[in-house]
Amino acid sequence: MSQHDTAASEGGLENLLHEGRSFPPSAEFAGQANTGPEIYERAAADREGFWAEQARELLTWSTDFSEVLDFSGAPVARWFADGRLNAAYNAVDRHVEAGLGDRVAIHFEGEPGDTRTLTYADLKDQVSRAANALAELGVRTGDRVAIYLPMIPEAVVAMLACARLGAPHSVVFGGFSAEALHSRIVDADARVVITADGGYRRGKPSALKPAVDEALAKGGPVEHVLVVERTGQEVPWTEGRDVRWADALAAAAPEHEPVPVEAEHPLFILYTSGTTGQPKGILHTTGGYLAQCAFTHKYVFDLKAESDVYWCTADIGWVTGHSYVTYGPLINGATQVIYEGTPDTPDKDRWWEIVEKYKVSILYTAPTAIRTCMKWGAEFPERHDLSSLRVLGSVGEPINPEAWMWYRQTIGAGRTPVVDTWWQTETGAIMISPLPGITAAKPGSAQTPLPGISAEVLDERGQPVPDGGGGYLVLTEPWPAMLRGIWGDPERFHDTYWSRFEGMYFAGDGAKKDDDGDIWLLGRVDDVMNVSGHRLSTTEIESALVSHPVVAEAAVVGAKDDTTGQAVVAFVILRADEQQRVAEIGEDIVAELRAHVAKEIGPIAKPRSILVVAELPKTRSGKIMRRLLRDIAEGREAGDVTTLADSTVMDKISRGMQR
Ligand code: WTA
Repeated sequence: MSQHDTAASEGGLENLLHEGRSFPPSAEFAGQANTGPEIYERAAADREGFWAEQARELLTWSTDFSEVLDFSGAPVARWFADGRLNAAYNAVDRHVEAGLGDRVAIHFEGEPGDTRTLTYADLKDQVSRAANALAELGVRTGDRVAIYLPMIPEAVVAMLACARLGAPHSVVFGGFSAEALHSRIVDADARVVITADGGYRRGKPSALKPAVDEALAKGGPVEHVLVVERTGQEVPWTEGRDVRWADALAAAAPEHEPVPVEAEHPLFILYTSGTTGQPKGILHTTGGYLAQCAFTHKYVFDLKAESDVYWCTADIGWVTGHSYVTYGPLINGATQVIYEGTPDTPDKDRWWEIVEKYKVSILYTAPTAIRTCMKWGAEFPERHDLSSLRVLGSVGEPINPEAWMWYRQTIGAGRTPVVDTWWQTETGAIMISPLPGITAAKPGSAQTPLPGISAEVLDERGQPVPDGGGGYLVLTEPWPAMLRGIWGDPERFHDTYWSRFEGMYFAGDGAKKDDDGDIWLLGRVDDVMNVSGHRLSTTEIESALVSHPVVAEAAVVGAKDDTTGQAVVAFVILRADEQQRVAEIGEDIVAELRAHVAKEIGPIAKPRSILVVAELPKTRSGKIMRRLLRDIAEGREAGDVTTLADSTVMDKISRGMQR
């Protein structure tokens, strides 16, 4: 990254923008890609016509639609509203009908090393039986079903079984507490919960069913619990309420007629956290959502369904698992890998072993995972043949240029395109991303709205910023997979997303346009700091820290400061494979890193304090919980830690702080 010292006076986003590297696709990749640059022109010339084409080409409709978009009830859009279709039919049956029943849909790898292969024909059988079993338990079209499962094939089967009946699912991440599960069940008014005895994590069985029992003991609408047997561990049992998944499926017929629903019929509710403590039930419907999932999965990853092996490491408990494990890949008839456990069980090369074993060609993961692998060192991927990989994707937070480079070089052998995909639970599918056969990719930038998507960066007053300027990311036109609201709270939907800028969707992310007009995401607006009147992005300082050879991962927060308003406080994890270098720097490590940030960005960005830690507090979806770090940095007890993947991390960090 280039050195400069003007950032302080210009507001401090310059570090990212001096990232000048660019990686155009090879002629070979571009030559075989699913599309060329004309796709942007086609979409720009007739946006609605373009989406109608995609919806008809990528989905099978039981009743064709005549209307594409109706936004007269803005901000709630209706796409393809008079069409009818069924999501499970599109994801499963039609592939079997097309003679692809023997194609592998899912290569499942359990954490203990057990494996299962499900073809599309197997999936059809399982999903049909599960739909019949749910119907037997009283689930009707429109009823909500909660799903609380580990990453096992039944998670996908359960979602599709609900979709087959037109019963919206509400997946609750398997790591969430009984309390969180209870509030989501009550809010969605779910009548059935699908769960498992437990799943394998970090080398041992981890129970799930007791949390369901605890949640249901608080009361609520649930009549039945379907229990998958995964670990075989003892679980409490409530006769009459609890039903064994295996028994119910065995008793059910393998034939089930999918229910064609209106395009705007709710497909799922997925809870996500907002700026308040109360989670929002994000509502997605069927036709538009599936069309954009299929489109983005096909073009962003350049999917060749007949030959690729695709692996998205996300859990189905968050939106990436919905759109890019369950719906996108299966609608497109892809073959995918599902892995149950953690990346370091039994050893830190588990992911790379899986890539080699299944010849994974498309890998989609999160920056936090990439940085963790960087921290562990290149020796782990180097143990395996990763030459099957041809496209790498990133999602979930801004990816630091150094992590991007490491991903491309160390995992992709300097050969694979990397697509940095920006989107949200609310957007349903990828919105801003390079296309791997077209875009000259810039490390750290999501760059370009996809064909058919319109985004802009606005200043405080709602004016588009010029190239080189920074502000707030908005989406200026409705898109097919957009959320249709917050379950049960239309007012909050309007206030959260549609009130900041008239007629536009406010994403809550800061962004910058570079001199080419490409978009760089800078993190949530609430993560933007103001130090002595200078606007600094947490992401930018984190990137500067990670660009130092001994730093694996960094989290930066703005802590209240009497003189400067806010002060930069950084938490860093050092690279395990650079111990020699760390030892050489010794006690001076903090001074060295502060000087490094000053050099990379400017003195204004220099952290007031830097704490070397062994771990960072992360949610189960891998997001760093800066709120907790801010508590520590401001000398408070850390707040609510219940959504942390490992709730002991904060204790360790505060103990380190007192020393
Ligand atoms: C962030 C995950 C930068 C962003 C799909 C957004 C990103 C939030 C990127 C949504 C990216 C996601 N670059 N930031 N490529 N992808 N984000 O709802 O702040 O879990 O608003 O959806 O993650 O998180 P969510």
